[in-house]
Amino acid sequence: MILSSVTALNGTIHLPADKSISHRASLLAAIADGTTEIRNYSGSEDCLATLRCVEQLGAKVERDGSTIKVTGSGASGLKPPSTPLDCGNSGTTIRLISGILAGQPFVSTLVGDESLQSRPMRRIMQPLGEMGVAIESTDGKAPLTIHGHRPLNAFSYDMPLSSAQVKSCVLLAGLFAEGETSVTEHVATRDHTERMLAWFGVPVLERSADNGGTQLTVHGPATLKARDLAVPNDVSAAAFFLVAAACLPGSDLTLPNVGLNPTRRAIVDLLIGLGVDIFVADERNECNEPSGTLRVRGGIRGLERTVQIRGEKTARLVDEIPILAVLGTQLEHGLEVRDASELRVKESDRIATVVENLKKMGAEVEEYEDGFRVQRSELHGAEIDPHGDHRIAMAFSIASLLATGESRINDPECAAVSFPRFFDVLDEVRA
Ligand code: S3P
Repeated sequence: MILSSVTALNGTIHLPADKSISHRASLLAAIADGTTEIRNYSGSEDCLATLRCVEQLGAKVERDGSTIKVTGSGASGLKPPSTPLDCGNSGTTIRLISGILAGQPFVSTLVGDESLQSRPMRRIMQPLGEMGVAIESTDGKAPLTIHGHRPLNAFSYDMPLSSAQVKSCVLLAGLFAEGETSVTEHVATRDHTERMLAWFGVPVLERSADNGGTQLTVHGPATLKARDLAVPNDVSAAAFFLVAAACLPGSDLTLPNVGLNPTRRAIVDLLIGLGVDIFVADERNECNEPSGTLRVRGGIRGLERTVQIRGEKTARLVDEIPILAVLGTQLEHGLEVRDASELRVKESDRIATVVENLKKMGAEVEEYEDGFRVQRSELHGAEIDPHGDHRIAMAFSIASLLATGESRINDPECAAVSFPRFFDVLDEVRA
């Protein structure tokens, strides 16, 4: 894909549905009693992988465009898969479905692509082990073979890292345990699992933990009731266009029905804090998830200091760091990200891949073990290697719009992991 500079972006953006919410919708529908109709299910490769997995486990899946009907197995349980379940590139699929498979009375094997099979799985193996589940792995990596059974031991987990995937895995396993299963998180992560469990009739109790965190508790064994739902569009996909518009004065983009869950909307608030004109209209709350239509007009106000992203802020922006790195090149005093070592174990080592590609484009950037600092820089075109990582491909496509000369994005197809129509949409709004 060859891209070069543009002066502005204008029009309406058709975003993909939220990936995190879509995964949870098909997984919970698969273990609910009855049929759930999911409107606006994400067509991303990651969410299609989840859908194929639940189908292989015996859930009935009917597709009509972006509307999916999933008939769950309810209390009677899922069926043993006859072949390994392929989670593709998706960390959310493998980690969340492991929590469900832990509580099924059969053995299942989970595999993934090269990137997924290099990502750490001990983070879920350890708490699931405490719940009485034996999991075989290759040195803490997939393929994972899960020896599920029922009931699991109820367990109280003080989560040592900040991860919505780990939190969700343990809470889902808790549905198949006897008694209270809790996860204490010390940095708040996205809460879609908690919201969707409540939607399916299983409340998640939230209280302050004695050691200062937030403790989330489910009571098992639990029965989920099928209930139709609609998925808002993905704010992490919106982020690429919000930043692009912000950096290109004269831009005017409308992004309908964007998910604005407080644990995900930090990118919107950060841009508003930088003086970007973002107007939120048509705010609503559907199926326990807030959303609204965003209108963004270009231009960033100069800040007196470096924009600092660290601590809880980093956790809230975990998927937006690659595009924020690009934003940093346009800020008067640059941008610094810390406390982001989790980025080293995402679809690529995102600290390394961001720094490598920024340098190729002529940016002044310093790498730290847990982040980076980027200065305001004049970018020039370059050959971008996304290392198979969808968010790197999209972030550096936006960087190419801000650079002099041409850029080549290698392997642009990897964007389909979260945003299959990314380049078409970009084409539609390029002035
Ligand atoms: C996700 C959680 C995040 C995020 C990922 C999706 C989820 O990972 O990076 O893209 O849907 O739960 P962690 O919270 O595990 O870091």
